[in-house]
Amino acid sequence: MKTNQTFTMIKPDAVANGHTGAILSKIAEAGFGIVALKMTQLTQADAEAFYAEHKERPFFGELVSFMTSGPIVAAVLEKENAVNDFRTLIGSTNPDEAAEGTIRKLYATSMGQNAVHGSDSDENAAREANFHFSKREQF
Ligand code: RTP
Ligand code: MG
Repeated sequence: MKTNQTFTMIKPDAVANGHTGAILSKIAEAGFGIVALKMTQLTQADAEAFYAEHKERPFFGELVSFMTSGPIVAAVLEKENAVNDFRTLIGSTNPDEAAEGTIRKLYATSMGQNAVHGSDSDENAAREANFHFSKREQF
């Protein structure tokens, strides 16, 4: 298993608000390389499968509805210590608690509409990358 890769989505709020370019710049400036990249839109079935671990949570319906509401930008990123360093770069789930300069502090509008996703483990990074990208789309 790779420990130098993570998976991200720029979520529908940030894409709709025109923050895609700025967020990709911050990711590049932080030293992440791009292994895979595309703009796409999740179906309800996609979002339910991607977030299956949250299906018993009270916010699941809201999360699926939000994540299918518009296009996203999905990417696989590469850097030493990718999973942890990327979660530091994006900041806390709740933007009110996110550190200054983090992507969520800059671009998230609420706990639900929080601009970006970041994998929480190497196992999930690999699962999420392969959920969105075929092997021939990952460089
Ligand atoms: P993500 O998976 O998107 O990187 O976010 P995370 O690890 O920081 O947070 P997680 O607990 O995995 O939750 C996944 C996403 O569900 C939405 N959420 N809404 N309204 C709420 O209380 C609530 N809690 C979580 C957020 O969009 C969160 O990113
Ligand atoms: Mg998570």
